Amino acid sequence: MPPDAIASRPNTIETSTPIVAAVQINPRQDDSLFEHVAWVYVFCREHLFRDDTERIIAALWPSGPPDAGTQLMEIGCGPGFYACQLAERFHNISITGVDRSETQLQRARERADVLGLSNCCFQRINALDLSCADAKFDVVIASRLFTILPEQNRVIAEMYRVLKPGGRCFIAEPRHVIWASIPLFAMWVLVRLIRARNGYREPHKATVFSTSAFENLFPTQPWKQIKIWQDGRYQYALCERA
Ligand SMILES: C[S@@+](CC[C@H](N)C(=O)[O-])C[C@H]1O[C@@H](n2cnc3c(N)ncnc32)[C@H](O)[C@@H]1O
Repeated sequence: MPPDAIASRPNTIETSTPIVAAVQINPRQDDSLFEHVAWVYVFCREHLFRDDTERIIAALWPSGPPDAGTQLMEIGCGPGFYACQLAERFHNISITGVDRSETQLQRARERADVLGLSNCCFQRINALDLSCADAKFDVVIASRLFTILPEQNRVIAEMYRVLKPGGRCFIAEPRHVIWASIPLFAMWVLVRLIRARNGYREPHKATVFSTSAFENLFPTQPWKQIKIWQDGRYQYALCERA
């Protein structure tokens, strides 16, 4: 059992066939700012960060809507912002949002409930060990995940593994450390103010990649095609699996 293994709880929203398996939880996995002061991140996501939905759609499906039955996974989905936006836009695709924070996942499920979405589900799964078979997804997306998760190469290897041949991943990461660190800073300040215990796994400062460091993340897997670009405060990667 990998040390970071995370269990999934029953979803309030089900897709037809669950394709990621539940695994045993380690209680120390709850030592996360995203768990204890979840609302701070939810607030930042809703009110401060760029909404890249249109950019994601244009990059992934440039010639028209996705095929019916497309399976999409969002890794580190947090409160389910993109999973729900895409599920709402395309009712005939199926979305699995995974995160290790149960509180973030609960927010995501509530959001999907409010929107009446039946084509997305949210599961507690570790990005470093996605506990699903190889080649299950057509599309994988991740936004602002590498800023707080140091093992980026392992995540990229998992993305590659779970994608079908010809499947694509879209990754969005901030480019400016102060901007990227705002939610972490706010969450750390808050846990200190409310005298919550120390020992959360998140860093105090976000990791932000230079253009070349970001480019160098992706050739660790044998992608057929890699496209990298920058736009204002964000940088993006679109990779196609061989
Ligand atoms: C900065 S938030 C990004 C949330 C969302 N993608 C967005 O764009 O707002 C990072 C998320 O990754 C999750 N996370 C961190 N490490 C993880 C891991 N090993 N496996 C799954 N999720 C993880 C955190 O719980 C958090 O919800």
